Amino acid sequence: MDGVPTLAALRELGPLHQPVYEDSVLLERVIEQLRTLPPLVFAGECDALKAKIADAAEGRAFVLQGGDCAETFAALTAGSIRGRLRVLLSMAVVLTYAAEVPVVKIGRMAGQFAKPRSSSIETRDGVILPAYQGDAINGFDFDAQSRRPDPARMLQVYHASAATLNLVRAFAKGGFADLRTIHSWNADFVRQAGVSTRYEQLTAEINRALAFMIACGVDDQSFRTVDVFASHEALIIDYEHALTRIDSRTLRPYNVGGHLLWIGDRTRQRDGAHVELLASLRNPLGLKVGPSASPREVVELVERIDPDGEPGRLTVISRMGRSRIRELLPPIVEAVEATGRKVCWVCDPMHGNTFATTNGFKTRSFADVVDEVNGFFDVHAKLGTWPGGIHIELTGDDVTECVGGVGELSELDLTSRYETLCDPRLNRAQSIELAFMVADRLSAMERKTTSEYVGLDF
Ligand code: PEP
Ligand code: CO
Repeated sequence: MDGVPTLAALRELGPLHQPVYEDSVLLERVIEQLRTLPPLVFAGECDALKAKIADAAEGRAFVLQGGDCAETFAALTAGSIRGRLRVLLSMAVVLTYAAEVPVVKIGRMAGQFAKPRSSSIETRDGVILPAYQGDAINGFDFDAQSRRPDPARMLQVYHASAATLNLVRAFAKGGFADLRTIHSWNADFVRQAGVSTRYEQLTAEINRALAFMIACGVDDQSFRTVDVFASHEALIIDYEHALTRIDSRTLRPYNVGGHLLWIGDRTRQRDGAHVELLASLRNPLGLKVGPSASPREVVELVERIDPDGEPGRLTVISRMGRSRIRELLPPIVEAVEATGRKVCWVCDPMHGNTFATTNGFKTRSFADVVDEVNGFFDVHAKLGTWPGGIHIELTGDDVTECVGGVGELSELDLTSRYETLCDPRLNRAQSIELAFMVADRLSAMERKTTSEYVGLDF
């Protein structure tokens, strides 16, 4: 394939965090089968997303990227998918209406099944087994058979992603996302002082505004449907390479397993396989940068991944932690801006703020998440650059995985509904509360007037 490194060449580079399969014959069979399967997304859709991200990079839109840390095959149900989409759309409504900024909606969905882990093994009661690496690779149950990496799981990932995306598209275009039904999206919302009251006021206002516009004869398609894009971390080189195709219209290579793919903080080596493969594709890309990334390193990666400075091509997702963002992000933003390149700056306030509770849960505090987002806005306000978006781990269910927020979840509350197999996620109330907080910061920004924005794009 033109310009795309071969799988053999990528394997030669010794990519990090790859599954080690025992059955190499089965592995090759799976890869061949994946290569024959139809695309999950189209090149034209990836380009449309790129154009929207370009707007966010220029200060004319805001990116909302969110979903599970790790999707699971068990959560491949209509209820779970609808719940995740609903919270994403609710947050987007809050941001669009309260901050008057068009929101680019990207799910960490329909492909987010593989995880890099800090340790490749897990020990329980003296028994050592491979760590759980996501449903794409092995099972969560702690026994030798379940933890053995199985290449056939990649086929399951493809089909689970197809089913998820199919339902997301149906919800997005088939009436569920109709703004006129907004009050019903969270009708079952547990009454929690603060968020639900503010949310209800906002939906009532939107309904009145819509009724007014419709009475005036404005009945735009954008009230009824939304664009929701799919994204995941490109981790398993075999899988991502197998889903790379040449677009028949432009003859250029795209990964057709998701609209946007990102490179994780642990696999962003400049000459590594992940950067090599993704740099050869035409999809919009994300690059995660944590506290170990130097400004020079980030500039080199930006130049490597986006040599032509293509608008919307690259989103840099920082995840510094609440205590370090104000110190570490400015030199990175300054160094990249000094090259004259425009990337979209997105804040992941989740991955730098994880800690273990005394009762053994991996959690995050809502206050820390808010603090990092505030730090992100402070940095951009000071530098005169645009805070382009947020990247959140969330779920539509009323789980108890992150402490704090309107419900004031305590460490003890974590025992009641802690369901994630990987990182703790914001629940629905916490997600919507965060959206209001972000909307408040956005409305306070000096920015373009609404008329300068590119269409309403709810
Ligand atoms: C993630 O997004 O789930 C993740 C592993 O992030 P990072 O690469 O930033 O650690
Ligand atoms: Co995570």
